[in-house]
Amino acid sequence: MTPQALFDEQSRLWNGAAGQAWVESQALLDALFAPLEPLLLDGLQVHERVLDIGCGTGATTLAAARRQDAGCVGVDVSAPMLALAQARAEREGSRARFVCADAQSHGFEPASFDRLISRFGVMFFADPRAAFANLRRAASDGAKLRLIVWRSAAENPFMTLAERTAAPWLPQLPVRRPGAPGQFAFAEAQRVRELLAASGWDRVEVSPLDVPLSMPEPALVPYLSRLGPVGMALQELEEGARAALVEGLRAAFAPFVRGEWVEFEAACWLIEAQAAPLRG
Ligand SMILES: C[S@@+](CC[C@H](N)C(=O)[O-])C[C@H]1O[C@@H](n2cnc3c(N)ncnc32)[C@H](O)[C@@H]1O
Repeated sequence: MTPQALFDEQSRLWNGAAGQAWVESQALLDALFAPLEPLLLDGLQVHERVLDIGCGTGATTLAAARRQDAGCVGVDVSAPMLALAQARAEREGSRARFVCADAQSHGFEPASFDRLISRFGVMFFADPRAAFANLRRAASDGAKLRLIVWRSAAENPFMTLAERTAAPWLPQLPVRRPGAPGQFAFAEAQRVRELLAASGWDRVEVSPLDVPLSMPEPALVPYLSRLGPVGMALQELEEGARAALVEGLRAAFAPFVRGEWVEFEAACWLIEAQAAPLRG
């Protein structure tokens, strides 16, 4: 696939079904991923200008804006997710701003950010090297990059169990292509190190982050029925098949249910780097 086709595919997804599912599930997802927020914002200084990459519905942008006074921008390709982020900012009187653009190619003002953060928002670039070079130009010399991404599918069984369970009902589910834009694109730590070193970042550290996450048990079926490839494909099934699949999913996820909670561990990488001096 060409880079343009890869971008178009992601843009369609995040402005369509995936974006809609994230908007509808905002409260659930923000509560689920809340334990990652302090890890992402650790060390943030009050005077640092922040860019939140792939900020979605804005939880981490708003959280960063609450901690600093130098300006905070969220960039995302999804118009519906940003509309919600903007509404949330207005509701809480936040000065966070949002830009609807491809972070890979957007013409950010050079050297205008001192800290670049992202919670699961950097794995979807058509050309990650071009994207991180563009983000380097947006960063001031010595700016800090702090990202949380997923490790491999194998290390995150909670995230792939739905696909494995749904295979008999949904034989046409898209196959995950290793390294291609998507949830697990940054699973290979060495690839991430090389990618950042080649795009203007140094002092790159990629460290495992294993974080217990949980959601209330009644949220499990809505989560599985809306999110991810299965949640989206499930909408297309006729009612009987959909009900049978939901029942199958609920049974398959039983090992993750502990009383009133669903619990699993998120196997992530914490990626830290610093903007290297620009050459030329
Ligand atoms: C998994 S969601 C994470 C959202 C948010 N960071 C959070 O933690 O709630 C991934 C986000 O990346 C955004 N995204 C994907 N490709 C992008 C691109 N090329 N430029 C900017 N944002 C992009 C999507 O629209 C989506 O909001």
